[in-house]
Amino acid sequence: MSSGTTQTITRAKSLSGSVNIPGDKSISHRYAMLAGIAEGVSQIHSFAGSADCQSTLDCLKKLGVKIDRQGSEVTIEGAGLEGLRPSVDPLDAGNSGSTIRMMAGILSGQSFRTVIGGDASLSRRPMKRIMEPLARMGARIQAREGGLPPLTIEGGSLVPIRYELPVASAQVKTAILFAGLYADGLTEVVEPHPTRDHSELALLQFGAEVGRAGRTVSVRGRSRLAARELTVPGDISSAAFFLVAGLLVPGSDLTFQNIGLNSTRTAIIEYLQSIGGEIIISNCESRSGEPVGSVRVKASPLGGGEIPVETIPGLIDELPVLSVLGTQTEDGLVFRGAQELRVKESDRIAAVAENLRRMGAEVEEFPDGLRIPGRQRLKGAEISSYSDHRIAMAFTIAGLMADGMTTIHDSDCVQISFPTFFETIARVAG
Ligand code: S3P
Repeated sequence: MSSGTTQTITRAKSLSGSVNIPGDKSISHRYAMLAGIAEGVSQIHSFAGSADCQSTLDCLKKLGVKIDRQGSEVTIEGAGLEGLRPSVDPLDAGNSGSTIRMMAGILSGQSFRTVIGGDASLSRRPMKRIMEPLARMGARIQAREGGLPPLTIEGGSLVPIRYELPVASAQVKTAILFAGLYADGLTEVVEPHPTRDHSELALLQFGAEVGRAGRTVSVRGRSRLAARELTVPGDISSAAFFLVAGLLVPGSDLTFQNIGLNSTRTAIIEYLQSIGGEIIISNCESRSGEPVGSVRVKASPLGGGEIPVETIPGLIDELPVLSVLGTQTEDGLVFRGAQELRVKESDRIAAVAENLRRMGAEVEEFPDGLRIPGRQRLKGAEISSYSDHRIAMAFTIAGLMADGMTTIHDSDCVQISFPTFFETIARVAG
């Protein structure tokens, strides 16, 4: 993302009101991709404003899919499973790991060659995890040395596989399931730990034959997808920043409507409740096959403690802001088994440790986690976002409870998932 933008943050008195949370990034990517290869015109409401999801739309357009976007309303004229056309230019996934990995699944099913790359951060992220299973299905994929983007993907007739994921990753699972749409027969993915199941739910919405038995997810190939009208729920991973702020800033009371409450994403709420956070869920219903509801959070004293390792895949995007929260708890916070954080948009373990230290906090860094003592006073500091949206937002929340002024450098990266983040903070901090 562009650098040179800064935001300054000072201590907040209390946060109150209703918070507008943008559409879920994960679900928006999936709806767009499946609509692009479905038959007929799909209508997607509350599509994420995120730059990452725009990257997905731009890639689909380059493959000949007709897309009309009016704010959060997106209309996609599906090309059908076999109707994508080769792109003259390389596809640009921008900063989005989801775009490059999940599109790679679809591109593996095409009989033409596509080049797909992204920005400097994406160009450092590991792609072997998708290259290996997709090659087993019959795709020919080349990358830069070390399995780094850009990828050159030449697809064709694929064979179904049964694949045990070495790392719990929804993006890799999705790449294989999407490629499985182009394979004759049943493609199966076995997960070491459950990961977000938005792809399975979205595939069902578009009429694909999807199954789950224990840790195995399957899709039957060659079934036609039918266009749908779908509504994207609010992104719980974006709401997470306000959940943490609402718990920590004394006197706060925030509400959020239409938040996605899929059980593969609610570990953040369960963890916060388990350490004493007052978070109330109401108005639950199912929308486009995804559970949604209202969430209310009130400032609460928090215990803290160790995050169970089996919950880490379900909390992976929330760990930066939970680390900030750890400094304000009674008992601090420890997590291990999160080595994946080192290969996100930035090395999030290093970025969190460095920025917490700049704010005067004590923190111990492990190869796969952090230990953060509780009851620490934070002081305003110069924060480097490392061009990573979740680092910028996590440390904005830290700034709301720090003494003095915090400056977030390269703050514009919030566009990746939450373009209205700073305005929203200003509004609820009143
Ligand atoms: C995502 C899966 C997670 C997550 C990312 C979005 C998805 O990545 O960190 O922000 O939409 O499937 P991994 O699949 O690499 O764990």
